[in-house]
Amino acid sequence: MVTSAHALATDVGLEVLKNGGNAIDAAVAVAVALAVVYPAAGNLAGGGFMLIRLADGTATVIDYRETAPAAATAKMYLDEHGQIIRDKSIKGHLSVAVPATIAGLTYALEKYGTKRWADLLAPAVSLAEQGFFVTYELAEELKHYSPLLSQFDESKRVLLRNGNFYREGELLKQPELAATLRRLQRNPRDFYEGETAKLIIEEMRRGKGIISAEDLKNYRPKERKPLIGTYRGYEIITVPPPSSGGILLLEMLNMLERYDISSLGHNSSRKYHLLIEVMKRAFADRAMHLGDADFAPVPVEKLISKNYALELSKNITDSATPSLQLQTVSFIQSESEDTTHFSIIDRFGNAVANTYTLNFAYGSGVMVKGAGFLLNNEMDDFAASPGHPNEFKLVQGEKNAIAAGKRPLSSMTPTILVKNGKPLLVLGSPGGPTIINSVLQVIINYVDHRMNIRQAVDAPRIHHQWLPDVVRYEPHALSEDVLEALARRGHVFATANSPSSRSSYIGDVEAVGIDESSGYRLGANDLRKPDSKAAGY
Ligand code: GLY
Repeated sequence: MVTSAHALATDVGLEVLKNGGNAIDAAVAVAVALAVVYPAAGNLAGGGFMLIRLADGTATVIDYRETAPAAATAKMYLDEHGQIIRDKSIKGHLSVAVPATIAGLTYALEKYGTKRWADLLAPAVSLAEQGFFVTYELAEELKHYSPLLSQFDESKRVLLRNGNFYREGELLKQPELAATLRRLQRNPRDFYEGETAKLIIEEMRRGKGIISAEDLKNYRPKERKPLIGTYRGYEIITVPPPSSGGILLLEMLNMLERYDISSLGHNSSRKYHLLIEVMKRAFADRAMHLGDADFAPVPVEKLISKNYALELSKNITDSATPSLQLQTVSFIQSESEDTTHFSIIDRFGNAVANTYTLNFAYGSGVMVKGAGFLLNNEMDDFAASPGHPNEFKLVQGEKNAIAAGKRPLSSMTPTILVKNGKPLLVLGSPGGPTIINSVLQVIINYVDHRMNIRQAVDAPRIHHQWLPDVVRYEPHALSEDVLEALARRGHVFATANSPSSRSSYIGDVEAVGIDESSGYRLGANDLRKPDSKAAGY
């Protein structure tokens, strides 16, 4: 069973499984296919986290998060008054962190896959070379992001056809991308040390970027031990720093475990009140404590312990706790919501939850000339102004300050729920900080409200991230009387729309799992993403 944000990528993964490949083989093929058919977030020059749980119970995380280039400095996005020049970290060449996806995928395949790299790239090569039909969603999205893409000649030429926008049903061919993929088929190191690396460095020179040939050559993914927690008898396997996702997810589940969520009912104001309160508390910790643990210590064990959850939830009352009472020393900056997740489970019982990203939709907006792929803007996931008070008179998280070679803090939360040795739910989502809350809510729906995978993914979502102190909710998520009841408790609401997103929905949870009693593979694509598809055989 495969589920991803694009039907063509799901089909590619399914073929790999049908041909005897395992979940890791399929993950590689899906990731590269998404780079062709879903250029907003699918990528060759971004990064992410692949959580693998093998049928024998071994679980591991491939951290292929990008790194800050060697020439990066803590203050590179500040003007002479110490104010952030926001554009610098979100678009163009200076916003690009050292790309990691190809290194991550090759590492995963060499260690855990069974098929040949070149064969797994073949479907993506044909999709790029022969083209694929543009969907309504892609056509609209490209138009929506044309103000960004049209600032960069190569992106404008390839993705916007110089203003002659692609329409639904037209064939989109990407010959330069196909040529890159063919080079990578022959040798994946070409991305870091060959012709592709040369094209990236030339692009950096043209746009005054700072990624060097050495940065590319030196990039390495890291294999890490997953975080493991429990929730009402389920084992929760998720990702460690440099993502904040796993820690926050376990922190919130630990707090919620103390309450009888199921008896509160799915859509009750009492349940939403609790959810909002635990979200606030966990996200306050994110700003305070989290960053790349290879650079600054993160108290992971403490944060994910049941005792800490008990301490944290002691001051949850019947009224909303104002966010500023929870912490006074840090601040969370706004983050992009564009990333993509896919989940795969094979016939052997191996499972992969993979979230990867260019950061914002279409990343930095920069397409590498002659290479046909976009570069990320992951540098924006660092705290650009450490030590400086922001408009709330608060100081941003030092632990997530920019430093050469460091990984920016992420929210990506690929997660696997296991019971009696079986992966029952494999999931993740895009959505910046909303990722963590989307994953949380699907788990609660599944475990506490006994929803099946489809219902758990479909159910409406809310989001609170400590600051700003507002609750976001999807259209029709909360009824009028629930909104009133929550307002009486002191909660304040915003609409779900984020400035960087086209949609009012929160997240895109692509979930698969094994049915506990029958052993059937189940899948639920997220209908919030019109091009998504779940498929099995
Ligand atoms: N760039 C989005 C994330 O890492 O969470």
